[in-house]
Amino acid sequence: MSKNVLIIEGDGIGVEIIAAAEKVLKAVNEIDNLNLTFDTAMLGGRAYDQYGKPYPDDTQTKARAADAILFGALGGPQWDGKTERHLRPEAGLLDIRSDLGLFANLRPAVAFEQLVAASPLKPELVGGLDIMIVRELTGGIYFGQPRGIRTLENGEKQGFNTDVYKESEIRRIAKVAFEAAQKRNKRVCSVDKANVLEVTVLWREVMEEVAKGYPDVELSHMYVDNAAMQLVINPKQFDVLVTGNLFGDILSDEASMITGSIGMLPSASLDVNNKGFYEPCHGSAPDIAGQDIANPLATIMSAAMLLRYSIGAASSADRIQAAVGRVLDAGLRTKDIYSDGMTLIGCEAMGQAVVDALTE
Ligand code: NAI
Ligand code: MG
Repeated sequence: MSKNVLIIEGDGIGVEIIAAAEKVLKAVNEIDNLNLTFDTAMLGGRAYDQYGKPYPDDTQTKARAADAILFGALGGPQWDGKTERHLRPEAGLLDIRSDLGLFANLRPAVAFEQLVAASPLKPELVGGLDIMIVRELTGGIYFGQPRGIRTLENGEKQGFNTDVYKESEIRRIAKVAFEAAQKRNKRVCSVDKANVLEVTVLWREVMEEVAKGYPDVELSHMYVDNAAMQLVINPKQFDVLVTGNLFGDILSDEASMITGSIGMLPSASLDVNNKGFYEPCHGSAPDIAGQDIANPLATIMSAAMLLRYSIGAASSADRIQAAVGRVLDAGLRTKDIYSDGMTLIGCEAMGQAVVDALTE
């Protein structure tokens, strides 16, 4: 049966990076006879301009029906502060994530040998780095009730949020982490604050329970403050790192920046059936939009994740990753990863170079 991929450009450089990634995905579809079908929809600022909301009904219908979604980025100064919060471009992203139940956010931080000089850390700490952060995306303190700002009896205001996780929510994110580890180096490090927060005492218990079902995977635990340090001191000690929404937000940004190149970081957000939403970690980069200088590789590698997790086409995903490696080996660079002696090319040319390298 053929699977359907919904392609959404979004705003800013979303248009250019998706054009490049779409070309790569369609080329792989032909080469490996994947039998994928494609559709397009809108999300974000331009979607608001056209339909009056950032997550239009047409997009919702198509997104619910699709097996996977490849997305660029959204937002831009022309929409900042001009509309109510729930109509801003960014609301489109939150809406589609919660509508599709995308509870598992996977962010690999991989250092390409060819680019380690760009890392803020010493090359020997970063060379060969390959870690996967699994962040719970629909629970925890970002969604817990009650929340708000209240006025106390003495007139002073008090802000409050609630950090909550049910066993079922912890169990399903644990399974994603252990399954990812089984396909990698078979180690899961669960990050919590079980010395202070009861919610993470339960988190730790459930991790231990789920681990029994994966005897080939080694589970360890680390407090979040230590994890933040260890990511900088010795990032290569990690394989899969699993954590809740708040800690994951911070640690995934920290881990990804270790590689030094925002244009190189893909991500996946999965539901319980491995239907997924795939996008680069960066935003819509309005400062460089429309100039054909954006780096499309994060989006191209997001397409590789799409094939791996939602289509079950691991060898096609490997084909894309290998092509990206060859293009870097050949010295081709967009502006954000350029260094002396390399060949500077644009977004479109980078997409074409990856297409050409698919069958090399
Ligand atoms: P940004 O990630 O768009 O840009 C930060 C810096 O990195 C800029 O200098 C940009 O030129 C550069 N950059 C980003 N991606 C690049 C790429 N592929 N190639 C080369 N350079 C790249 O973050 P910023 O500036 O904070 O936000 C811009 C807009 O994007 C805002 O409207 C923001 O809300 C939105 N945004 C959207 C996200 C999404 O769609 N998932 C995520 C983050 C921000
Ligand atoms: Mg963040």
